[in-house]
Amino acid sequence: MVKICCIGAGYVGGPTMAVIALKCPSIEVAVVDISVPRIAAWNSEQLPIYEPGLDGVVKECRGRNLFFSTDVEKHVSEADIVFVSVNTPTKTQGLGAGKAADLTYWESAARVIADVSKSNKIVVEKSTVPVKTAEAIEKILTHNSKGIKFQILSNPEFLAEGTAIKDLFNPDRVLIGGRETPEGQKAIQALKDVYAHWVPEDRILTTNLWSAELSKLAANAFLAQRISSVNAMSALCEATGADVSQVAYAVGTDSRIGPKFLNASVGFGGSCFQKDILNLVYICDCNGLPEVSEYWKQVIKINDYQKSRFVNRVVSSMFNTVSSKKIAILGFAFKKDTGDTRETPAIDVCKGLLGDKARLSIYDPQVTEDQIQRDLTMKKFDWDHPLHLQPMSPTTVKQVSVVWDAYEATKDAHGICILTEWDEFKSLDYKRIYESMQKPAFVFDGRNVVDAEKLREIGFIVYAIGKPLDPWLKDMPAVV
Ligand code: NAI
Repeated sequence: MVKICCIGAGYVGGPTMAVIALKCPSIEVAVVDISVPRIAAWNSEQLPIYEPGLDGVVKECRGRNLFFSTDVEKHVSEADIVFVSVNTPTKTQGLGAGKAADLTYWESAARVIADVSKSNKIVVEKSTVPVKTAEAIEKILTHNSKGIKFQILSNPEFLAEGTAIKDLFNPDRVLIGGRETPEGQKAIQALKDVYAHWVPEDRILTTNLWSAELSKLAANAFLAQRISSVNAMSALCEATGADVSQVAYAVGTDSRIGPKFLNASVGFGGSCFQKDILNLVYICDCNGLPEVSEYWKQVIKINDYQKSRFVNRVVSSMFNTVSSKKIAILGFAFKKDTGDTRETPAIDVCKGLLGDKARLSIYDPQVTEDQIQRDLTMKKFDWDHPLHLQPMSPTTVKQVSVVWDAYEATKDAHGICILTEWDEFKSLDYKRIYESMQKPAFVFDGRNVVDAEKLREIGFIVYAIGKPLDPWLKDMPAVV
């Protein structure tokens, strides 16, 4: 029986391995992590991450050929294929701080593999890593290997949170990069055989190591760039009376461009886009390519601009001050169908409003109060370290309350900011909400989910990203 071990039981390691176990009953899969609470949660009824469809997959395989454990050494030593899916945060200190990927967790995982291995292994980079990481990992493994042979493969993960199970069941492609030697090709074939249990052969792409590593960074940079491009257009739409949804539709029907990923919003979030572009920027700098580095940096700058533009719109519309006003925040996760708040634009928007002394009442169907308080007090980039290494939040933000109902959040509020596109926000009883709010009552829709015309009929003053402005807002331009 082939044995797989995955180091890192996070948003990628957990769902990916659960699907491999489901689709390959003849393979034994162990997912290991240094975080005791995370593994305990994977072994409980309440999984550590929310992902549609994940519960069913885990329930079917757990205890059969899928195991979650903190015994890293045992499972690594027994495995034929070791996936490494640990976090690769942005460095906060030293050389490359604020840009380069911090490979501390990756390096420690590689050292464990070298220390405990007693047989030859295939080591698979699942984490998103800088191009050429495989070379560094190879050096660590071969210098500590006691004669054992390792083959390194790059197999970046393209799943998106919120649709992870669907993406894993039916991927656009699986990418496997390896050495162009006979041993490298044999290792590629072994991993191909795993995916071939359910992925059609023509969707399994094989490349050299560096193309596979760089393709993941490139794909994320291209995706984020589409969002920043449409968001840049949204500002121009507001200034000219164009409607960004109409522009995006007209642009996206060009088959060379395509319709996906063209929704204007308050900005992109998630654990990957910013981190991976910063990493790309750093790699360009290190390779003496400042123009290329500047080009990609601009994608992040537009994202920051979009978030501060939104905050300024809120404050300037509400008579240039939100001091002591209650603002309801609907949605805190970085997108719908996930409880993940890493790099969510809600953090910057909330901090911006708190900076103007607003009182916030936050409701998100999947995010806990503890997480929100943590996010609002944590330093930039600290979020991407394992939970037990994150600083404890010393104080809670007193002007913030977290509630479990949209009606409770909006009661007596002066304004509402919609920051995540949860489906339930489309069908709230806005008439009831309007009646319970202070007047004039404002809605700032950062995801274009509400029917602005209907809300205007009720009496709301509505701001929707990239849409023709309400006459009220026209006189109050958002200054950035
Ligand atoms: P995560 O933070 O949810 O999970 C990483 C896990 O690794 C944590 O549970 C941590 O405790 C564990 N870990 C760290 N060092 C360890 C060690 N030495 N031994 C054992 N466990 C260790 O991170 P996530 O989101 O799963 O991301 C992992 C990688 O996958 C990152 O490189 C990320 O860029 C990439 N990725 C993430 C995607 C996403 O949507 N979250 C999508 C595609 C790639």
